[in-house]
Amino acid sequence: MRTEQPKMIYLKDYQAPEYLIDETHLTFELFEDHSLVHAQLVMRRNPARGAGLPPLVLDGQQLELLAVTLADKELSADDYQLSENHLTLQPTSETFTVDTSVKIHPETNTALEGLYKSGTMFCTQCEAEGFRKITYYLDRPDVMSKFTTTVVAEQHSYPVLLSNGNPIASGPGEDGRHWATWEDPFMKPAYLFALVAGDLWCVEDTFTTMTERTVALRIYVEPENIDKCQHAMNSLKKSMRWDEEVYGREYDLDIFMIVAVNDFNMGAMENKGLNIFNSSAVLARAETATDAAHQRVEAIVAHEYFHNWSGNRVTCRDWFQLSLKEGFTVFRDSGFSADMNSATVKRIQDVAYLRTHQFAEDAGPMAHAVRPDSFIEISNFYTLTVYEKGSEVVGMIHTLLGAVGFRKGSDLYFDRHDGQAVTCDDFIKAMEDANGVDLTQFKRWYSQAGTPRLAVSESYDAAAKTYSLTFRQSCPETPDKVEKLPFVIPVELGLLDSKGNEIALRLAGEASAQGTTRVISVTEAEQTFTFVDISEQPLPSLLRGFSAPVKLSFPYNRDQLMFLMQHDSDGFNRWDAGQQLSVQVLQELIAQQQKGESLVLDPRLVSALRTVLSDESLDQAMVAEMLSLPGEAYLTEISEVADVDAIHIAREFARKQLADNLFEGLWLRYQANRDLSKKTPYVAEAEHFARRALQNIALSYLMLSGKPEVLAAALEQFDTSDNMTERLTALAVLVNSPFDEQKDQALASFAEQFKDNPLVMDQWFSVQAGSTLPGGLERVKALMQHPAFNIKNPNKVRALVGAFAGQNLINFHAADGSGYRFLADLVIELNGFNPQIASRQLAPLTRWRKYDSARQALMKGELERIRASGQLSSDVYEVVSKSLA
Ligand code: TRP
Ligand code: ZN
Repeated sequence: MRTEQPKMIYLKDYQAPEYLIDETHLTFELFEDHSLVHAQLVMRRNPARGAGLPPLVLDGQQLELLAVTLADKELSADDYQLSENHLTLQPTSETFTVDTSVKIHPETNTALEGLYKSGTMFCTQCEAEGFRKITYYLDRPDVMSKFTTTVVAEQHSYPVLLSNGNPIASGPGEDGRHWATWEDPFMKPAYLFALVAGDLWCVEDTFTTMTERTVALRIYVEPENIDKCQHAMNSLKKSMRWDEEVYGREYDLDIFMIVAVNDFNMGAMENKGLNIFNSSAVLARAETATDAAHQRVEAIVAHEYFHNWSGNRVTCRDWFQLSLKEGFTVFRDSGFSADMNSATVKRIQDVAYLRTHQFAEDAGPMAHAVRPDSFIEISNFYTLTVYEKGSEVVGMIHTLLGAVGFRKGSDLYFDRHDGQAVTCDDFIKAMEDANGVDLTQFKRWYSQAGTPRLAVSESYDAAAKTYSLTFRQSCPETPDKVEKLPFVIPVELGLLDSKGNEIALRLAGEASAQGTTRVISVTEAEQTFTFVDISEQPLPSLLRGFSAPVKLSFPYNRDQLMFLMQHDSDGFNRWDAGQQLSVQVLQELIAQQQKGESLVLDPRLVSALRTVLSDESLDQAMVAEMLSLPGEAYLTEISEVADVDAIHIAREFARKQLADNLFEGLWLRYQANRDLSKKTPYVAEAEHFARRALQNIALSYLMLSGKPEVLAAALEQFDTSDNMTERLTALAVLVNSPFDEQKDQALASFAEQFKDNPLVMDQWFSVQAGSTLPGGLERVKALMQHPAFNIKNPNKVRALVGAFAGQNLINFHAADGSGYRFLADLVIELNGFNPQIASRQLAPLTRWRKYDSARQALMKGELERIRASGQLSSDVYEVVSKSLA
């Protein structure tokens, strides 16, 4: 744990490195009670920094320095300075080598950063600043080097020795040990370094690239998981093909490896040629992983693979530019997932997630721009804003330039900056230069935090046959206190006539109409667009496909929203109209609950959803999405002051009313789909995901009826289905039901069957942590004593504590503050051994401003208790202090 005060780092202070490292030669000697790392760095003065030889300041943390040699001369303690985070040497010539030997302790590394052990295997996680916990180095992304790595370990326990690049030599050593040397021909920053040693099996395949090169593909896992790799392998091959076809990007090494590890702080890591994955992001087969898990594996495999170009070949100059690689790569993986599955459904899911979680982050104390201008701990900035909003920003460029223009821009970007460490400005510049456009104002999306609001009003002039839309944009204040200037907001829109047909769109001043859906750019604080030749009052369909990450408001009434649900030609907006209708109806119920009135559901919501449910022509996945009411977290986000209890009661009331009123239709759809599922072997493809999605949402509604035939159906589905998607939904509806005996039996049999599969047990924990029945906290506390729980394993913490605090709002926000106290205790404990996870689990407490004054006081009290709890990591310190500021 640190002892120096955490300090703020500013983008404006960026300076190029004083020295460069042309070559990095590493030797790792792995032992059970320590490891030795020898590094030879071939260095030179950075010519860009001019003349003179300033001190060389190498980063290093928690390293025991054994020896250091500068220009072949072993130094004594007087020749260098050693501090908690640095080793400082004085070079005496422009070019020189530095050799260091250090001792480190992967076997006790619980922070899962640097070199650590996951189970019996050694692995690394170096992004963002983990390499400095392995050896003394210039641990910054603009220092790129050619790496050669030798790993030496005991042969029997660690038969597989991996690092980046190509294997060039290997052989036996002394005392039952062996070694392997890997060479990565591509220059890379240290954060992309990786090493793995373990007793692993692998699934092998090959890929033939667009220039007919054969690439060996290997997925390494622990032996018991060898039967769960095929889906990831298929996803990898599809990703490689897609990146060639859509972006013209070919893979560059002769081998591409993925290793699955059980203990991992995030989803996965794009280390050059050697991706390291959380096992939850690799392993998937029908019996153990849900459809959602299969889709997540496909997306993460693609994401990490795509980083080979957007991140590795072209990397970030500094960590303020993180969205350069993450926003762009999320945009790329979303496009891939859209092409592999249903594009509209993918868009709906992404937007629902963004609006619920990123909008909340952007309105809270940790709000920051897509390119932040300061941070204390970079690990805290792997955020929804950098990833998801960053992707939306790239998506807006795509919308503004069109697919062809965007591709010209990305080609120029990759070509111009191959092998370089660059900035978001360089990305924009390539887009500008390739298309002859000026994106100066657009760049405010990178520097201004907060979710813009876009209020739209209309006016129709029947005599002149003109229709005007007036847009007013504003952006709420955020902690960075930057003055907000107008954004460039691309608004894709259409106009519907009274029959639901699309109207040709001709703006005043244009010679002719330009289609029925088009993109206009709102660039001013207030701006009016007038359409001509409009012969009747139209209904606008605004922000089609969610063309900008803004909060749009237009005074639609409920009948108009129902009309859009049926007639809008844009599938996303049909869904969104349904969401807006649901929000209006739910907010009315919330108000009734708050006033102590009896709750009355607007029958229009029932009839709108009945129409959806009976429409056999709709994609079933769309039907499932449209039947899903906005979640409690989203209703919280859009509330001025969130009334936890009223939101929960209102939403549950609406669900029960819908279940009762739509029982027949739901039951028919359920039975038809369940029958088909019984007859069809599991296939991880869109059409099958869609069938099961509708089947499962129908079951969760039906179960609210409490009818015995539904209970029987749930039990039948639980007992006999051959896949986790159906089984887990059946378990979830039982767990949330009043049928205690059946619930307990199902939970017990599930645990018995899957006790040796940690990823399945994670789902078992999550389902229970998410149960909104009373007593949630006691259940979670009891589950923490279960033998399958392990607080040192991030997946377990996320499955149980994360699911409770993030998804079980009614229990977490218990009025007595018990949920808050529990979470604070946990954060204090996690802070002691895994700061990154501690800081992430803290997020729900940072949202205290959303709640009533009693809850605010309780939440703040817990944040203060964390702050006073002793030695805080920089991760937790930053989040707590910003939340209380
Ligand atoms: N670059 C990784 C990604 O693709 C993010 C990541 C993986 C990460 N592991 C991490 C970030 C640990 C910080 C710490 O998204
Ligand atoms: Zn990434």
